[in-house]
Amino acid sequence: MINKKILEYSESHTTKEPELLKKLYRETNLKVIMPRMLSGHSQGVLLKLFSWMIRPKYILEIGTYTGYSAICLAEGLTDEGELITIEKNPEVEDIARRYFSESGQSEKIDFRIGNAKKIIPDLNLIFDIVFIDADKENYLNYYNLTIDKLRKGGIIIADNTLWEAKVLQTPNQNDKETIGIQKFNDFVQADKRVENILLPIRDGLTIIRKL
Ligand SMILES: C[S@@+](CC[C@H](N)C(=O)[O-])C[C@H]1O[C@@H](n2cnc3c(N)ncnc32)[C@H](O)[C@@H]1O
Repeated sequence: MINKKILEYSESHTTKEPELLKKLYRETNLKVIMPRMLSGHSQGVLLKLFSWMIRPKYILEIGTYTGYSAICLAEGLTDEGELITIEKNPEVEDIARRYFSESGQSEKIDFRIGNAKKIIPDLNLIFDIVFIDADKENYLNYYNLTIDKLRKGGIIIADNTLWEAKVLQTPNQNDKETIGIQKFNDFVQADKRVENILLPIRDGLTIIRKL
């Protein structure tokens, strides 16, 4: 998508990645399947900036993986703030918990192992930020489950909304992920309750503000 040299130039003019996140990136690449799921340097900085701008009390993250984005988002929390992050795969629990602890933020991170679709309905909190980054076929379900738990003016951030440019094609009936992302994108675009932008950075990042 973006010219490689432009990407390198942008990254060289973006705040450097802290050592802890570099270490987490390396360890994820060495030990965990599908390491490209991790947010990575530029997106991590962007998430951190959003969080600092909003100074949220409550953040909900759907899809923890090894904890990279959770650590970035948790930075901007208010002193009494909390990030709830949900992950269905128990195999990543140890590594994520270890890095939450090393980041000094484990007190503020409520890490739940389980299916987000089951856990979210029982959360009785009003969130300032929701980060949707789990199974693509359920993006619209996650949106519908969280929009009423988002404060007015709060934001939903959804990752991978260009889905490797597959959103431009007519997907095969079995391609539930592309269909899921397309449904989500079209629904958000038509939703009068929100203001939204799909940023064509990395794999597509949609920012949605509740009106
Ligand atoms: C793209 S990764 C998350 C990456 C992480 N947010 C980051 O940026 O470093 C998606 C994660 O969602 C998890 N996941 C998929 N379906 C889920 C579900 N129904 N409930 C909770 N987690 C789920 C997967 O196991 C995977 O670890």
